[in-house]
Amino acid sequence: MKLLWHGYRYYAYEKELALREVTALFPEPPLRETLGGLELHGDPSHDLAARLTYVAKVHHNDGISETHQSCLENTARKGKARQATRYSVHGLHEYKGKFNPQVAKALLNMFGIMPGQRVLDPFCGSGTALIECAHVGATGYGVDINPLAVFVSNAKLQALATPAGELWEAHRGLVASLSGKVASPADADDRRNRYLRSWFTFETLQAIEVLRCKIHTATGKLAPVFLTIASNLLRDYSLQDPQDLRVRRRKSPLPSTPFLASFHDACRRSITRIEAAQRLLGEGCASSRAMLGDATVLAGSDLPSPFDAAITSPPYAMALPYVDTQRLSLVWLKLGRPDDILRLEATLVGSREFHGQRRNNLRAALEVNQAELPEAEVSFCRRLADAVGNDDGFRRQAVPVLLYRYFRNMQDAFRAIRRVVREQAPFAFIAGCNHSVLGGIRYDIETPRHLANLAASNGWAIEEELPLQTYHRYGYHMNNAIARETLVVLRAS
Ligand SMILES: C[S@@+](CC[C@H](N)C(=O)[O-])C[C@H]1O[C@@H](n2cnc3c(N)ncnc32)[C@H](O)[C@@H]1O
Repeated sequence: MKLLWHGYRYYAYEKELALREVTALFPEPPLRETLGGLELHGDPSHDLAARLTYVAKVHHNDGISETHQSCLENTARKGKARQATRYSVHGLHEYKGKFNPQVAKALLNMFGIMPGQRVLDPFCGSGTALIECAHVGATGYGVDINPLAVFVSNAKLQALATPAGELWEAHRGLVASLSGKVASPADADDRRNRYLRSWFTFETLQAIEVLRCKIHTATGKLAPVFLTIASNLLRDYSLQDPQDLRVRRRKSPLPSTPFLASFHDACRRSITRIEAAQRLLGEGCASSRAMLGDATVLAGSDLPSPFDAAITSPPYAMALPYVDTQRLSLVWLKLGRPDDILRLEATLVGSREFHGQRRNNLRAALEVNQAELPEAEVSFCRRLADAVGNDDGFRRQAVPVLLYRYFRNMQDAFRAIRRVVREQAPFAFIAGCNHSVLGGIRYDIETPRHLANLAASNGWAIEEELPLQTYHRYGYHMNNAIARETLVVLRAS
């Protein structure tokens, strides 16, 4: 059997993952790399070969067939040389720090996840891993502390599990309900109104408020799907700079296409892709879902443990304000109140915010190593504390204790995840490095190495640390984030 590569240019790590997927799914026949792909002896299962991520076509005794991945990517391709990543429901929302869906799928294949098995993503964000689980018939279970992440994940899963015909009909109903003159609805929540008024022009605010009401009345139980598509456009149409990870006023002009026109275009594009995915894979596995929760605890009877595997991309230390940049959506969707955003941000692992938690308490915790972190992590945080100079501002001074808090939270998460997976279950995470300048000297924070070390002290054996040199998370353009990430593979020991 010959396995042929896709037409796009591969990064080195993608070929690595390709080999791992094939050897995991076909441990028996010897494998040989050829110019255009891989060659396997014999004629192994076509169904399994159809699941491969980094293979476009399979040459077998009965002819040539295209993999599911290739068919899916063809529905969202922007040019031959680039890998498509917005196929199926992945393009519904551009959540910051999103997984590359191909990597999530390759991990499922590497772990030999079969239909009916359960996979946990404890920091599920917008649900990329859960969707890839649904594509292969497994049950993906996600947890996230950000209500927007949970909302978006469940909306994507719902869209995948809803026959495309129903989505088209709901969209047609919505278009009809918006035609003609529609009065802007009054919302009783004054703080919400004031907040939205400060970030949208009068016309856009009218349009999005009318739309929100009409989505509820015209699309019924499918409302989350359409609200997600609309919320994905909010920042672009707001007075915030959509490229900025902090909330600052925009300098660039507003888009010239009216909000509603962009929204309807996005709906049509999304439903077309969903329809194509469903033709290929059937409707998504309805049992996958995301829930609001804290990965450092993972308690609660709702978790259908034990899990057969876990895959995730945890937050960086001090890197991305997941909540802050999504304020508009949280407030517009009524998932958060404007004055509650910073409190929510402070609950995120890796947050830069303190809320109710004194910096001095954390400093004392670091001094005595209250969390009993491994030596390497404590001594690194203490080294940073010693390096803080007189000229370092408030944010820099906080780096050592914020890092200590991050390590402590991630230690708790490793313990919590260990408790809900079966013996010997695999767990892969992707994490990136960043750096900080203290006392004028640059310190690299090798987050993946530290996290692997924390995992190894908390019930996990390290199987592999694979550098993904060129892997970029969506939306990362922070100057303290390095475009180098590592895939760490662990096993419950
Ligand atoms: C890198 S993002 C995950 C992105 C995800 N892989 C995707 O494809 O969209 C990390 C996520 O961790 C979440 N998070 C931070 N602290 C958390 C906690 N204590 N418990 C659960 N989730 C948390 C953030 O809200 C964010 O969505």
